[in-house]
Amino acid sequence: MSESAAKPLQLTRATAFVEELVLVLVNYRIFFPGHPRIKESIQKVLGQVEELLGDGSSITLKVHEETLLFGEEPLVGASLSAARLIQRLSECRAGGVEFLQGIKERDLESFLAFLSSPPPMLKTYMEANRILERKGCGKIRFLRLSGREELENEEALTVYQDVMDYLQEVTIRACKGEPIPLAPGKERVAKVLRCLEEDPLSLFRLANYEQFDLLSLGHSARVALLALEFVRAHESDRNIQVRVGTAALLHDVGKSWVPVEILGSRKKLTPDQRREIDRHPLYGAEILAASKEMDPMAVAGAFGHHRNPGGLGGYPRLLAPAPVSNISRLLKVCDIYEALTAPRPYKEPLTPVQAWRVLLGMKSELDPGVLKKFMGVMGLYPLGTFVKLGSGEIALVVGQGREMHLPRVKLIRGRRGEALPQEEQKILDLSQEQKEKGIRISGTVVSM
Ligand SMILES: [Fe+2]
Ligand SMILES: [Fe+2]
Repeated sequence: MSESAAKPLQLTRATAFVEELVLVLVNYRIFFPGHPRIKESIQKVLGQVEELLGDGSSITLKVHEETLLFGEEPLVGASLSAARLIQRLSECRAGGVEFLQGIKERDLESFLAFLSSPPPMLKTYMEANRILERKGCGKIRFLRLSGREELENEEALTVYQDVMDYLQEVTIRACKGEPIPLAPGKERVAKVLRCLEEDPLSLFRLANYEQFDLLSLGHSARVALLALEFVRAHESDRNIQVRVGTAALLHDVGKSWVPVEILGSRKKLTPDQRREIDRHPLYGAEILAASKEMDPMAVAGAFGHHRNPGGLGGYPRLLAPAPVSNISRLLKVCDIYEALTAPRPYKEPLTPVQAWRVLLGMKSELDPGVLKKFMGVMGLYPLGTFVKLGSGEIALVVGQGREMHLPRVKLIRGRRGEALPQEEQKILDLSQEQKEKGIRISGTVVSM
């Protein structure tokens, strides 16, 4: 068949495919997921995708100004009936979707169930992709929005996604008992460092959006960002900065060996289950020590990040006091700060100020010198925190100032709570503003 004859046929098939997708989304609202009507539709969609794929590696559906494109060709008719599909893609913060060769029924089932009711508050299409992968859908992925906001953060998004991909890969390998590679982790940490030097706010804001995940991947990435901010301020040797970041990224890798039923349990843990969780530092050290590119700093960080600086107390429990490594002292502070300020299914996040109070009260459990330096780097209001000013305006912390309680902020909302247009989002140095106009921070806004 000539290409010119093939094209209209392909577009007709693509239109039928979109219509079937729309129908499945409607069916999901009426029937339960395993219902024969839904199964039947999924089979039909699978046949259509396979036909459209032919020998090619992938097909894409993209949204451009309310119109669906198949590849680069507009599907004008299908777009009219596809409002729900376009709406769902936008809720997934996606500008389209790609179907890859080798797609199976399971991929489609997971994808369509997800698309029919995406979790609320997804912040990036990559977050949606990560959830999809966890649900066993490896052959369908969301594509990024082509809007300005996403493009501005593109570098940070790519870097962050690479880190999350690495953590996933490491977890899978550890679960299978395979050795884990450290070199790709170090490469990614080096990229994170470059990104932190150029645009730290984007990375911190992205990391804040991560939702709770069972295997603590978001937690590990955030702990790494905190440790990197610390080491950037106190150590100029790039190699050490990278090693600290990698140790932080992998500090909880031992959790891969703890059964998920225990990690995800919402009930009070039995003493045996608690003991199993408390073994994750030992498991982590064992996993990291078996790595071909073993780094003693990573092994020490995984082993000691729940130990007390005095050498006794915390876990793993030792029979006699033993020195606690510097990396463990740092990771313990970062780990607890992250856990306190992040949302979990069972608790609201603390504001940074509340978290500092808790940390300052943990006398013998933390190294006071490390904690003081860490607070100095992060400031009372760390990067990416939303604060309320005495004037009633809401602002975003975009950098630290000369004093830890007076950061640099960007105005986001006006006195009556109205969102400010871009051109009115002024940057204020609060040490200056306080001196000149008496403007100060009156509180923290947990989420916007
Ligand atoms: Fe841990
Ligand atoms: Fe941790």
